Order: sequence, then structure tokens, then C-alpha cells
Amino acid sequence: ASTAQRVSSIFRPGLFKNKVAVVTGGGTGIGKAISQELLHLGCKVMIASRNKEVLASTVQQLREQIQPGNTAEIAHIQCNIRKEDEVKNLISGTLAQFGSIDFLINNAGGQYQSPASQINTKGWNAVIETNLTGTFICCREAFNQWMKDHGGAIVNIILVTFRGIPTMSHSGAARAGVDNLTKSLAIEWAQNGVRVNSVAPGRSIYTESAAAIPGYDKVFAEAIPANPAKRLGTVEEISAATCFLLSPAASFISGVTLKVDAAGGLYSTSWDIPHHNKIPAYKWSEESDTENTKSKL
Ligand code: ADE
Repeated sequence: ASTAQRVSSIFRPGLFKNKVAVVTGGGTGIGKAISQELLHLGCKVMIASRNKEVLASTVQQLREQIQPGNTAEIAHIQCNIRKEDEVKNLISGTLAQFGSIDFLINNAGGQYQSPASQINTKGWNAVIETNLTGTFICCREAFNQWMKDHGGAIVNIILVTFRGIPTMSHSGAARAGVDNLTKSLAIEWAQNGVRVNSVAPGRSIYTESAAAIPGYDKVFAEAIPANPAKRLGTVEEISAATCFLLSPAASFISGVTLKVDAAGGLYSTSWDIPHHNKIPAYKWSEESDTENTKSKL
């Protein structure tokens, strides 16, 4: 496991004093950075992931970073978010340990790269179950066990999906599902004092977990020229957006997906399509044809 970055924050020390957060996928990458910043701001953080060894080592690293006088605490519960019983246990275990749940950060997720034609049903279902169904179950359990009577704030970490995600169609479909779930829950749970938002990184946030995906070095290499900022984004930039949405600064913000991609999603496609003539124009007669609809092949 990597060593933890020294943590600092743009937000005021003590901002989240006496708050409690559950961070899924909190052992590595974006989830780890969010956990670090929440701790730095005084939050009690329960990190969850499937991997016990990673959890234990991250907890140890992050606990050592807590400064004297900061009442932040960190603990972990092993949880596969695809398993309903384990999610129920994550939420009830957090309540047993820390007494409340103010924030839920649904960061756990994952996918692999594959052309859609090569995704088998098992792989498709696995990605949907983790990224969409698992996120839903975490939201539902946090709500039913705590937030419905006490309010709270939920942030789902998804991906920019506006242009589709070629080579990750399963994940794109799941993340777009979470984007829409965010809106439904924001409306249904407003009367319980629960705000629900999402943060959508582009493909361009550098994390070790992403770098470990076979072929992802190419994605990173292509992401730099394709982004208006001409660089990759950092986990700190995702964490800052998340902390903002959790904070009272966002008290009138619910149901949104905040893209954190430096306009990369607006700028260009990362998917090359060779010139072809496989989608001929619809026309009433040859006379209506113009130069523009003729193949240049
Ligand atoms: N991270 C990736 N997949 C996960 C899962 N199913 N449960 C928890 N964390 C995960």
C-alpha cells in the first residue's frame, strides 16, 4: 500500500467537528483522499471496502495523521456493497460505534475496459450491481436506519457520462443510473432533511487504482491533450468538491451532479472513429443528394 499524502484543506478547521461520515471505497484513491480531508476537518469517519488488508493499513496511516486536539476518529468495517446484509451491517455498525450518520459518500465502484460487444452478461451485471445497485442499497439503508429521522447529506461519486463512455459502456450506464437516482432521492428525501448530490470526475483523475486498470495508461496519456486544462485532475480536487457539497455552503444544493473535469466533457471526444461509409444518408431521390452527403471515400 502507498503512503498517505500529507493532508491539508481549503476548508475551515473543525468544519465537520462531531459529524460522522461513511465512505465506501475509502481505502484507496478518491475515497481515501475524501476520508483524509473529512478527518482533517474533525469528522468521525467509517471507511468501508472489500479488502481487509487495505482497510487496516489505510486506517493506521490516517489515524497517525490526526493532529492533537482534533476529535476526529477513524474506524473500518469490511463490506461488499453488492451484499445487502453487509451494507445493513455497515450502517448499523457505524451507528453502534459513532452514534449517528451525517454523511454518506458512495465512492465504491469499479469497472473494466471492454468493447460493448465483448461484455458478457456476468460482467455487465457485476458492474451494474456494484456501481448502481450497491450505491442504491447504501443510500436506502443509511436513510431507513438513520437519515429519515435525522437528516443528512449524501454524495455519490460517479463519472462524467454526458457523451457516453466508449469502452466502459456498463459503467457509463450504471453511473448515468446513479445520476438519475440522485435526482429522485433529492426530491423524495428533502422532507426528511436529506440532500443528495453527485460528483462526476472525468476519466482524467489520476489514481493508483485507475492506473492499475490494464490499458489505462493510454487513457491518461490521451486525457491530457483532450482536456482544456492540459493536465490530469487530482484526488484532492474531487475531495474538495465533495466536502463543499457536504458542507452548509451547499445547504440549498440538492439533486445536482457536479462535474469536476475542467470542462473536459465539453471539449472533445476521446474516441477515434475512422472515416467510413456505413451509415448512408436517407434521401427521397438521387437529385436531393448534395456533395455533403456523399462519401469522401
Ligand atoms: N469497491 C469496488 N467494488 C466494491 C464492492 N463491491 N464493495 C465495496 N467496495 C468496492
